[in-house]
Amino acid sequence: SRSAAEPIKITFDGCVPGLSNNVTQYCCPPKYNGTIVDFIPEKELDSSKPLRVRKALQCLTGKEQQEYKAKLDKAYTILRNLPKDDPRSLDQHGIMHCAYAVGALVQPGTNITIDIHFSWLFYPFHRWFVFFHERILQHVLEDPEFSLHFWNWDNGDTVPKPDGSDGGCYEAGNFLPPLYNDSSTAQYVTGRSNLTRIPGLPVDLSVHPLERENPPLRTADVVLPRNLESMYGAMMSIGNTTRHFMGREYRYGDSQVLNPFDGTGTLEIMGHAATHWWVGGLLGAVETSAADPLFFTHHSNIDRLWKIWHNLPGGERKDYDDPDFLNAEFLFWDENAALRRVKVKDALSNEALGYCYETANDAYWINYV
Ligand code: C2O
Repeated sequence: SRSAAEPIKITFDGCVPGLSNNVTQYCCPPKYNGTIVDFIPEKELDSSKPLRVRKALQCLTGKEQQEYKAKLDKAYTILRNLPKDDPRSLDQHGIMHCAYAVGALVQPGTNITIDIHFSWLFYPFHRWFVFFHERILQHVLEDPEFSLHFWNWDNGDTVPKPDGSDGGCYEAGNFLPPLYNDSSTAQYVTGRSNLTRIPGLPVDLSVHPLERENPPLRTADVVLPRNLESMYGAMMSIGNTTRHFMGREYRYGDSQVLNPFDGTGTLEIMGHAATHWWVGGLLGAVETSAADPLFFTHHSNIDRLWKIWHNLPGGERKDYDDPDFLNAEFLFWDENAALRRVKVKDALSNEALGYCYETANDAYWINYV
């Protein structure tokens, strides 16, 4: 019971078995004996440095693609070979996302579990998660300029724009990025089910929750117009207010949201979830999704679309300014395997976190209707 509203707080101490898809999930982060240090961007990041640019994967040149693919392979080989309980290992990324997603973490002083999906926590949580993952990759690659390029799955172009305004980056965003789909590399995982069944299908942004176990194999002629419709709805028409785009409020003492239709943000339930389900395999279930490296390039695109949403025409396009949103906190492992505490208010600007996004036919779906 609580007397007044307060922001969500996180501890890894009270961790209990969670539940997903009616199966009990045991996913508790490893024990930590160090001191949890707050991560405050203006103290730790050098704001005089030029912003790193996260790029559209399909717009990299052939040479850039080869280099990037080799870096991913090197980094994920290292993460796969770390001891199982090293919080920077790929398995532990999966476990931590599971803990935050299946009701394994108990809100301090209560017996109420938390879920960072289906509410206003969705965008900032995942921005921080990708941010720390990127730092871990930079660390193991010894390359501080490494950036998590995005899978541009909302770009439904099938032909180049005559005026070249898509920079030649047409079509390929619709398909699983080939850099992640070579079984001889460490960024590949087996069991990405739809892709195994039919390799050439475009991503389907309108897979329905009831189809998640076995998404229909819809072909390009059906899928591409529907993808535009789905993006238009998520970003423009339905998602044109803070509440609809970002999802419902969620404070300390609020029960875990169990029904994904109960107040979830438009893009989270539409393009975001559909892409998880369409790929399937590890990526298709919250308890395992972050153990597939595709998770981070998928969420880099979500992060980019959050940024783009602010500048679209029409509606009311501001982040929440409620103190319970701004002061909500999360815990993440950093590149040195130390546990760090972060706040939502420090995640509202990607520039303040040191990176920006390449422009890549940014709102292809804007004139859908
Ligand atoms: Cu925490 Cu794409 O999910």
